[in-house]
Amino acid sequence: MLQGGRPGFLPIERTPDSRENHNIPTSGKDVLLTSPGGRKAGVHQQTMKQYSQACEENREPILTVIRQVFANTHNVLEIGSGTGQHAVYFARQLPHLTWQPTDLAENHASIQAWREESGLENVLPPIDLDVTAGTWPTGIYDGLFSANTTHIMSLEAVQSLFSGMGNLLQTGAHCCLYGPFNYDGAFTSDSNERFDSWLKQRDPASGIRDFEVIAELADANGFILQDDNDMPVNNRLLVWQKV
Ligand SMILES: C[S@@+](CC[C@H](N)C(=O)[O-])C[C@H]1O[C@@H](n2cnc3c(N)ncnc32)[C@H](O)[C@@H]1O
Repeated sequence: MLQGGRPGFLPIERTPDSRENHNIPTSGKDVLLTSPGGRKAGVHQQTMKQYSQACEENREPILTVIRQVFANTHNVLEIGSGTGQHAVYFARQLPHLTWQPTDLAENHASIQAWREESGLENVLPPIDLDVTAGTWPTGIYDGLFSANTTHIMSLEAVQSLFSGMGNLLQTGAHCCLYGPFNYDGAFTSDSNERFDSWLKQRDPASGIRDFEVIAELADANGFILQDDNDMPVNNRLLVWQKV
């Protein structure tokens, strides 16, 4: 849902081309609580854990790329972690990483629920990070990951994202940005075009970004493009290195 005008989650059921894996977390689901001993407690309760089908579908192709990119990385900061599914999945598959999820405070409960359920020690508690707020984490990070955020954020927020990344990341750090992008001023598919209209109806400041605009922002903030990976259902995974 777009909560209070904030660019948060969008319900997948109402998106065009929702089966095309455009990123969009669904709402929470009921769970059957279990007692500490593992027996069913016999009550259904709404959990804070949010679920995104898209995350389930895109995590494997993303993992194939970031397994290589983050092979020698130690500390990854994730921007706009959403449900928390990616954080938990990638941290489990890449145990040499310490994964720091971040998002607007309204999404922390879900990230924390996924984290607690996983029991993983290499997923840290979420940090409150609004890229437009000017206050970024102070840790040392040699990797950054963000999925499906640049078309949700306004262009001004995307500019803040890049300047924040440029200030934060160490020389040599890798930055991976996943999502749909336009090239040469054109959509890469009809479904991306419909998705863009749908986004803009909900929030005129959002929309699929031009690769060239993103590339300029990356250049201006000290990043060199290393790879532009073709991903399923008209998405890309852009990889930069901080110089
Ligand atoms: C479409 S969701 C993507 C979530 C998750 N990365 C995924 O792939 O499922 C966009 C995310 O960007 C976050 N976001 C939007 N504006 C933001 C901002 N200004 N600063 C930080 N995160 C923001 C939202 O809260 C949301 O979690």
